Parts: sequence; structure tokens; C-alpha cells
Amino acid sequence: MTSPRRSGPFGEGDWVRLTDPKGRRHNIQLVPGREFSTKKGQIRHDDILGQPEGIVVETALGHPYQAFRPLLFEYVVSMPRGAAIIYPKDAAQIVAMADIFPGARVVEAGAGSGSLSTYLLRAVGAEGHVGSYELREDFAETARRNVEQIMGEAPANWSLTIGDVRETMTETEVDRLILDMVDPWSCVELAVERLVPGGIVCAYVATTTQLSRFVETLRADGGFTEPHAWETLVRDWHLEGLAVRPDHKMNGHTAFLVTARRMAPGHRSIGKSRRPAPGAYGPDYLGPRPVDLDD
Ligand SMILES: C[S@@+](CC[C@H](N)C(=O)[O-])C[C@H]1O[C@@H](n2cnc3c(N)ncnc32)[C@H](O)[C@@H]1O
Repeated sequence: MTSPRRSGPFGEGDWVRLTDPKGRRHNIQLVPGREFSTKKGQIRHDDILGQPEGIVVETALGHPYQAFRPLLFEYVVSMPRGAAIIYPKDAAQIVAMADIFPGARVVEAGAGSGSLSTYLLRAVGAEGHVGSYELREDFAETARRNVEQIMGEAPANWSLTIGDVRETMTETEVDRLILDMVDPWSCVELAVERLVPGGIVCAYVATTTQLSRFVETLRADGGFTEPHAWETLVRDWHLEGLAVRPDHKMNGHTAFLVTARRMAPGHRSIGKSRRPAPGAYGPDYLGPRPVDLDD
């Protein structure tokens, strides 16, 4: 496999996204001599090969389709998945707000279907490294296939480990730790040990109870700046003549994001120093309790 072409004329093996006038979409991979069947007739791959992106091809029955290479965000939402993926709107937030920079050493858990892995790999570039950890072998296999499909090959700066990140993580000096798993608070100790001073831990959590527990565990540790939590709502717009208005439907909830920065060794956050209410910790909470906090 080679890295996929991202521009220039369509070549053999390229993925093409065909869109009809009603917005129906098909992703196909170009093979000389092959035809793609639609309800509106056959499309010859040879009519696309060698052509620039943005052409209109017609089926044998004369129905038009636009042809472009699929964009990353278009690809990840339609790729095979085992675990639920991080959606593009949240992946974009993670790249921006967790400040994933070229050359960064990033660890993520779990890899799930590999959606976030591809955004992280793009953002760290060839100089950086992404270590992905996934508990389930079948999910890891899906992630591997998806990442290789999108990147065109197994990226040299990517490692995928099957196992519990808390037991198998080998990286010792990490700039960013991204947690998309059901119990991110169980990785706070790992974040304390492995994040460099100034490094960022970022969790993606679906529920308020997870959000609260993660934040309180970070606060209780004291080795992180005051956590910042937010969510992103994206509303598409309908644009037709004078009917320019928000779409009636939107994806109301995906997850909450939280970030916090690692303090230098021996330094404690000067952020909020209020003691959490007694109920802030569940009965099975085993992590550290708030220490050295002012009343
Ligand atoms: C929601 S999925 C991750 C989706 C992924 N971020 C994506 O964009 O495709 C959560 C994953 O975390 C994995 N997981 C849960 N606990 C873990 C742990 N301690 N170590 C490694 N992976 C873990 C689960 O098996 C699951 O596949």
C-alpha cells in the first residue's frame, strides 16, 4: 500500500465519493474496467480515472453524479465500526483545545474504531507519535483496518496495543493523553506519572456523572490545573431562496470534553480549592481524596 493521493487526477485505487442531485452518496474505489451499479444505471470507473476532482459523470441512463475524493470527516462517519466513534465536530475540538501539535507525543485510549486516531495522526505529523491502546482485540482490528485504509498504509509513527492502557502503556514522556473510555478517572494516576509538566489530559465522556467523577478525581489529585469542561453543538443551516434558517434537525448530544494541564512536580494547582460535596465520590471510589485544600 502507498499513501493515498489527496489531490491531482483520479488514479487506480483512489476512493471517490459520488453524490447525486438529491445528496445520495456512494464511496467507491477505482479499478480500471470496473462498473459501479446505481439504481439510475451503471457508472464506468474508466470515465473517472485520469479526470480531475469535481467532474460530473453520467450513468449509462444519463443520470449525473459529482465525483470528489472523500474528506476525512466524510470517511470516518461511514467507515466500519465496532465501538462508537468520536464524531468530527468533537475530534476537531480535541485537536484544537488539547493543542495537538506537529511533533507531539500523544497517547489515546481506547482506540475503538480508529476515528480519533486518524485526526491525531494527521495533527502530530511525521515528527510526532500516536500510541493507541484498545482493550478489545476485535475493536483494535477494526481500528487498524480503518487507519490503514485512510492513511493508505500502517503509519510508521503509530503504535496500536491491545490491552488495558493502565497496564500496558509503555510511553513514559507524553505531551497529550486523550481518554475516550468509560472510566477515565481510573487513568488519572497514569496521567500524573506519564504526562510531562504542561502536558494535557483530555477526556471525552458521554454523561454528566462521568464528567463529574473525572473532574473531581483530577481536583482531588491536585497535580493538574483546574479542569475546563465544555460541549459543542453544531447546527447545520438550510439555504434555499428566502428560506435561510437553521435545519429542523440536529445532533443534540455526543459527549462532553474536559481538559486539564499537568503541573510541575511538587507544585499544586492554585485553582479552585473548594472541597467537593461528600456525595461527589461514588461508593466504589478508590482514588485519592482531596488533600491540602483550604476550607
Ligand atoms: C467509545 S470507544 C473509543 C472510540 C474511538 N475514540 C474512536 O474515535 O473510534 C471506547 C473504547 O475504549 C476501550 N477501552 C475501555 N477501557 C479501556 C482501557 N482501560 N484501556 C484500553 N481501552 C479501553 C473500549 O474497549 C472501547 O473500544
